[in-house]
Amino acid sequence: MSKAATLDPQDKVRAEVSKTYARAIERTKSDSAGCCGQTSCCGSKAETANVESIGYSVDEVAALPADAVVSSFGCGNPLAFSGVKEGETVLDLGSGAGMDLLIARTRVGESGRVIGIDMTDAMIARARMNIAAKGYTNVEVRKGIIEKMPVDSGTVDWVISNCVINLSPDKPRVFAEIARVLKPGGQMSVSDIVAKDLPWWARRSMAMYASCVGGAISEEAYIAGLQQAGLTNVRVKERQIYDRDQIDAFAKSMVPKFVTGPLRPLQGIVTRIVSRYAAKIAGKVWSAKFVAEKEG
Ligand SMILES: C[S@@+](CC[C@H](N)C(=O)[O-])C[C@H]1O[C@@H](n2cnc3c(N)ncnc32)[C@H](O)[C@@H]1O
Repeated sequence: MSKAATLDPQDKVRAEVSKTYARAIERTKSDSAGCCGQTSCCGSKAETANVESIGYSVDEVAALPADAVVSSFGCGNPLAFSGVKEGETVLDLGSGAGMDLLIARTRVGESGRVIGIDMTDAMIARARMNIAAKGYTNVEVRKGIIEKMPVDSGTVDWVISNCVINLSPDKPRVFAEIARVLKPGGQMSVSDIVAKDLPWWARRSMAMYASCVGGAISEEAYIAGLQQAGLTNVRVKERQIYDRDQIDAFAKSMVPKFVTGPLRPLQGIVTRIVSRYAAKIAGKVWSAKFVAEKEG
């Protein structure tokens, strides 16, 4: 029997998601190599504009290796207005290529600590490269799943995450893990995609799931899940509801990241199909920033 056939359904979902992001991050490598082959030179203006549009400041982005910026797959800035202070410990769930890890490091300084968790080897390798490019010694990435975090209980001041929990096949488990790893009085600041009244085909397609849409839950379910895990003062701090043009632009920007290799000649036709379907979910999907606390 093949390995995939023996995986439990949740592991199967994670394996599919991981494969998608491994392919996507490989693709950004060839893009930046096409740029100038280094890790901190000419950040593409388009990518820089993209991350600014989701809440990062010009100064924040300018201080990062270009690779960390072009390899970002986030949908908000979980650290904006988060109040992370010097000396604190920040844990980033699904840290990807490390952009938020590096920004967190600027907040916690030399006396603090930043830990990322990710399950995708290619993402971990890229994050470690970007951390090394900055010379940071108190930023690390651990391989693992966010449903069973490789982190001791009660050791983290801040849990952050950017566009990841929607991808989990077991969100209550993730919420329980957040509550476990936070110190008493610790806080959570998470940007994520939420959705309501999605059409059935958006729920059934693995491509939609891996694109952070198909597995997204409603704001109400998110808040209830965090409260059931024991977190308090749970609320949505800001939201960006995607209109038709934004969904269309987002979907189009994702096509070259996912339709790669031998499929590349199909990018034009896939873009047209994706655009048609994207219009049908306009107003039903948005990015929300959730904050919560663990009672101190
Ligand atoms: C949409 S990308 C976001 C990456 C990063 N946070 C950013 O803003 O660029 C999702 C990332 O989460 C990771 N991921 C998804 N589900 C995960 C899980 N259940 N456990 C650990 N990592 C996961 C993927 O490997 C990928 O690197």
